[in-house]
Amino acid sequence: MVNRKRARFTCWEGGLRKLMRSADIEDVSLFVWKEEYGVNFPAIDTQHKRWFALAHEMHQAAVTGKGKDVLSKTLSDFIAYTTTHFAAEENLMLAHDYPGYGQHKVQHDAMAGKLTDFQRQFEAGRATLTLELLQFLKAWLSRHISTTDQDMGAYLSAEGLPAHRT
Ligand SMILES: [Fe+2]
Ligand SMILES: [Fe+2]
Repeated sequence: MVNRKRARFTCWEGGLRKLMRSADIEDVSLFVWKEEYGVNFPAIDTQHKRWFALAHEMHQAAVTGKGKDVLSKTLSDFIAYTTTHFAAEENLMLAHDYPGYGQHKVQHDAMAGKLTDFQRQFEAGRATLTLELLQFLKAWLSRHISTTDQDMGAYLSAEGLPAHRT
């Protein structure tokens, strides 16, 4: 009885895994920048598009089963650009006395820390680039851009700053 239940569960698990695999491979749109992510500040939007493009490369490398070297390269490119992008936003906020700077920086630091920790685990062979992790990253990027970055963009554009430069 117990064995039959276990067999059924194993079969169900296998089916789910197969379903997830085919869904992963077809899901080429996980990291596609959308108009609704616009922050009303074109220089930042350009950076966000590049950021999504790098995440997309990482996602594609993971779902098409690329080797560790390729995954490692896409991960380090994504992290390097994250550092550049966060610094650009932080410099803008500081230069224009943005009152939400502190809270915004806390979010950047938390994400930068998570990425660095993950990279360390990945390079040590203790972690892999899973769909779960990529989905978490997508949720974080979308939420951060749609709330925190859009608030910053509204402030900067209200200040009448030249929106094509960071
Ligand atoms: Fe930000
Ligand atoms: Fe941003």
